[in-house]
Amino acid sequence: MENKNIILTGDRPTGRLHLGHYVGSLKRRVELQNSGKFDEINILIADDQALTDNADNPGKIRDNIVNVVLDYLSVGIDPSKTTICVQSALPALHALTFYYLNMVTTARLSRNPTVKAEIQMRGFAEEGLPAGFFTYPVSQAADITAFDATVVPVGEDQLPMLEQAREIVEKFNRIYGETLVLPKAMIPENETQRRLPGVDGKAKMSKSLGNCIYLSDDAKTIKKQVNGKMYTDPTHIQITDPGHTEGNVVFTYLDALCTNDHFAEFLPDYSCLEEMKEHYRRGGLGDGTCKKFLINVLESTLSPIRAERAKWEADIDAVYDIIREGTAAAVEKTNATLARVRKAMRIDYFVDRSIVGEWNDLLKKAKQ
Ligand code: TRP
Repeated sequence: MENKNIILTGDRPTGRLHLGHYVGSLKRRVELQNSGKFDEINILIADDQALTDNADNPGKIRDNIVNVVLDYLSVGIDPSKTTICVQSALPALHALTFYYLNMVTTARLSRNPTVKAEIQMRGFAEEGLPAGFFTYPVSQAADITAFDATVVPVGEDQLPMLEQAREIVEKFNRIYGETLVLPKAMIPENETQRRLPGVDGKAKMSKSLGNCIYLSDDAKTIKKQVNGKMYTDPTHIQITDPGHTEGNVVFTYLDALCTNDHFAEFLPDYSCLEEMKEHYRRGGLGDGTCKKFLINVLESTLSPIRAERAKWEADIDAVYDIIREGTAAAVEKTNATLARVRKAMRIDYFVDRSIVGEWNDLLKKAKQ
């Protein structure tokens, strides 16, 4: 194994990506892509993983592949620098998953906090738990190791997946010799970026709660979400009342998104967010002004993304070719890892005929 810096990350194509994905992960991916510090960057559209809890609705996954690719391209993922590929078209991942399933116990899988939470959320505890869903952390370990990933940029909720993948790698290497690369998680530094709440202040943006701002939303929708759904500080009744910025969604979003340049452009009364917050706490700064500033910040973040999206939407043939070519490259890469794994496990029978000699020796010895 060479010492390369390789990124692999991915998303389940179950819906359009939203602002939470953007601040928590997409923005960082583009920065990493453009940093020049990585030998390889791969993004996996995890349609097989999405099927583990959507087996009855494959159409939803099929439809959302294009939405997710458009979201990637519109935020600045550049297919000349980043390989975008589709999981289901990478047979090596299926084979690796099958071998890695032997590296974990069901007890260990049951303890995975992310899976536990998701089982609750989906009602699988009552309805019955699909075995594929239960074991998806193993398939995710296959994703990560198949690309020889050293760095896996993910949201905080994915840390248990990385831990599980690392355990699988360590166990595999212990049994079969140094074969797999040990990956590391990379999570956002800024705490509000790690977990951007919904516009209603609920813990997470979620389609079913209607509290998302999608990357593809138009200006009118964004304005409506901010003005209609974001609460500020219920004790801040008169403008002159002192206000609270903690737990105030408008400020949480500003924490995640705004820069000093935004102040220079849209709210030059302040030079930075801290100054604005101090004024709000002191009293004298109205919620309307704060929301208007936030809408400006959101618009300046999202309007270039929207414009880029429109360009790609007009050429879906090109979008198709991007993932077709990315997937073809990923097939090569992941097949090479599978070959290495099979060799380490000594199940590479048909690579050459060397086992014929071994078998002959064995039979000869048995006769002696
Ligand atoms: N489980 C990830 C999520 O829900 C998606 C994913 C699949 C992934 N395979 C991956 C993330 C490999 C990182 C690396 O967001």
